[in-house]
Amino acid sequence: MSITGIKGMNDILPAEICAWQFLEEQARKIFSCYGCKEIRVPVVEKTELFCRSIGETTDIVEKEMYTFNDKSDHSLTLRPEGTAPVIRSFIQHKLYNQDQVSKLYYIGPMFRYERPQKGRYRQFHQIGAEIIGIDDPRIDAQTLAMLSHYFDAVGIKDVSLQINSLGCPNCRPNYRATLIEYLEQRTDQLCPDCQRRCASNPLRVLDCKAKGCKEATHDAPSVLDHLCRECTEHFDAVQQHLKLLETEYTINNRMVRGLDYYTKTTFEMVTNNLGSQNAVAAGGRYDGLIEELDGPSLPGIGFAMGLERLVLLLGENRVKATQPKIFFATMGEQAEEIAFKLLHQLQRHGIHAEMDFSGKSLKAQLRRADKLGCKFTLFLGENEINDGNAQLKKMADGTQTAIPIDTIFAQLCTMLDDNTASSL
Ligand code: HAM
Repeated sequence: MSITGIKGMNDILPAEICAWQFLEEQARKIFSCYGCKEIRVPVVEKTELFCRSIGETTDIVEKEMYTFNDKSDHSLTLRPEGTAPVIRSFIQHKLYNQDQVSKLYYIGPMFRYERPQKGRYRQFHQIGAEIIGIDDPRIDAQTLAMLSHYFDAVGIKDVSLQINSLGCPNCRPNYRATLIEYLEQRTDQLCPDCQRRCASNPLRVLDCKAKGCKEATHDAPSVLDHLCRECTEHFDAVQQHLKLLETEYTINNRMVRGLDYYTKTTFEMVTNNLGSQNAVAAGGRYDGLIEELDGPSLPGIGFAMGLERLVLLLGENRVKATQPKIFFATMGEQAEEIAFKLLHQLQRHGIHAEMDFSGKSLKAQLRRADKLGCKFTLFLGENEINDGNAQLKKMADGTQTAIPIDTIFAQLCTMLDDNTASSL
């Protein structure tokens, strides 16, 4: 039996790659307007990094990590997310000494051992950004405005931004205790997972999709009613500045995140078009994470978008592959040789040109030119060589023009170069 890929880990085939490249290019373009620079970190890290940052009692660390021992018996993990590795690198390379603010973005594969379904995979890709060094609420608003800008730019419309605040180490313990008290009165209604979470990670119960848990937590105390003054003021200011930047949002006081490092602002960009995988992007502030990982006491905020989910949402608006501009249809050895040289010259000039190498009939070559979506086909055979003129056919309307063979390269360059041929 032939070897297949691993369940939940997908090949991204040439027919799909244009959408991926488009989404990646737009991220690079837009994020750089906000001062973000790309960072590339390894896909494998020491397991401890994720246990300490994401949290021992989170689903990611408890159940979903690809962890293994290398030949030296070191426990390593395929990164399940990008924030912890970026912060590890930020601390290790003392990037905080280079500038008081570090604005970083990354694009790459992440790994989580989840049950695969539409929009949820075991190897998936994120485009993420981390803004480190400023706790001003305007940075939260600006980060969200950048995210919103991205969705506008790529033409994904059916999404909405939800925000919440999860408080800080001063007010969260108080809320946690209130929530535990509330949940303890309803444990019999909760699913077995949530009964366990009640003590270890009670906020996650608010996020559970099980019917009983949803009903039991319907009237649960709101985190927003338990914020300390500093967190309330911060959250108010974030909203005020989101309004100033005309970035639409709704408050979702039940939004908790599956990673423990968040403080204050958290957010998700959600959609109704992806079934149960409704978060296309998610993130928040993590003002204690850098110190927790033995770095300086610096605040941070960031987000990550799931590229597979973006591609699914792009759907109809999918970007089409660029098509060859010209196909050389040849008959006879001499014509093939002339065409082969021209093909090379055009390709070096930055023009996508194609020809046949398998001795197909003229009719079959024309069919291939059509299939490839070429704008023009240039016919070159013995007759054309004797006559000194090749025939250029415009595929859209079938019109033909004679072109002197020794001027083909110059004429095609003028006609087909994107910068000079605006009419094509
Ligand atoms: P996250 O919510 O775990 O956050 O993931 C962010 C996004 O990655 C999700 O909204 C989703 O689009 C995508 N995603 C997550 N898991 C999968 C999966 N199994 N298959 C496909 N897509 C998936 C984080 O990862 C944080 N590091 C975000 C962040 C950055 N917070 C601060 N900075």
